[in-house]
Amino acid sequence: MTTVIDGKAVAADVREQLANSVDTLRDADVTPTLATVLMSDDPASETYVSMKQRDCEEVGIEARDVRISADAPADELFETIEDLNADTDVDGILVQMPVPDHVDKQAVLRSIDPEKDVDGFHPENVGRLVAGDARYKPCTPHGIQKLFESIDLDPEGKDVVVVGRSDIVGKPMANLLIQKAEGGNATVTVCHSRTRDLAEKTRQADVVVAAAGVPELVDGSMLSEGAVVVDVGVNRVDADTEKGYELVGDVDYDSAAEKASAITPVPGGVGPMTRAMLLYNTVKAASRQEDVPVELP
Ligand code: GUN
Repeated sequence: MTTVIDGKAVAADVREQLANSVDTLRDADVTPTLATVLMSDDPASETYVSMKQRDCEEVGIEARDVRISADAPADELFETIEDLNADTDVDGILVQMPVPDHVDKQAVLRSIDPEKDVDGFHPENVGRLVAGDARYKPCTPHGIQKLFESIDLDPEGKDVVVVGRSDIVGKPMANLLIQKAEGGNATVTVCHSRTRDLAEKTRQADVVVAAAGVPELVDGSMLSEGAVVVDVGVNRVDADTEKGYELVGDVDYDSAAEKASAITPVPGGVGPMTRAMLLYNTVKAASRQEDVPVELP
């Protein structure tokens, strides 16, 4: 039997616990506040930001929705970030990626106050994560750790293959899994577009995390019997649907599910967890900056 890992249910559980933490903060006259900044016309980015705004409202986090024209000068974004850094009512800042080509992405990440960097992308926070002293764990890999917990999967001693080396998922996922800490202690192989024989690597794995951004890259023939499969992919591919596209993961679900002991669906797997862990980091940011201790899930 293959377990379908229910990201929606695990995320709902996290949100419910976070709503209690928000109550604790509000009892201490603290309103946790997240500012999202969108500098893009990309409909997918707009959708992601709207969902994040809605998630905040649901657990009692105040959300500020800052929009900057995609063709505005880069300085407009940097000035906005400066203002949000200085605003003591704002606990968390998220600049939706990607930013336009004329904006230096690394400079954007460096410009966010590391205490408010709820994505965990500032180099100081990346460094702390690698050093085993994370301030904010990046949302997607943290959410995947919670999914592992939900199926009682302890990565300790497991062979994990991470497919993809992005700054947002692949790299932080690998770093979390090799930590000498709960949820870590795995033996991790990171594969990417230059890996010579991907299938040979994934077939050795107890756990495969597919985060390459390539539709249906990983199929059942590339898995060992009983592997746990996590699909991070959200790829728009042309299709004969109302919208003209459909969303496809990095895993060929049907063939993978035949081999896997547990697998995340797309949608309803990793996506809801990424969103829930952003709320987690925002609550943590408010707790840290306002010096009000809260319990976190
Ligand atoms: N774009 C795609 N994923 C993310 C994310 O987790 N955070 C931000 N800021 N932008 C993204």
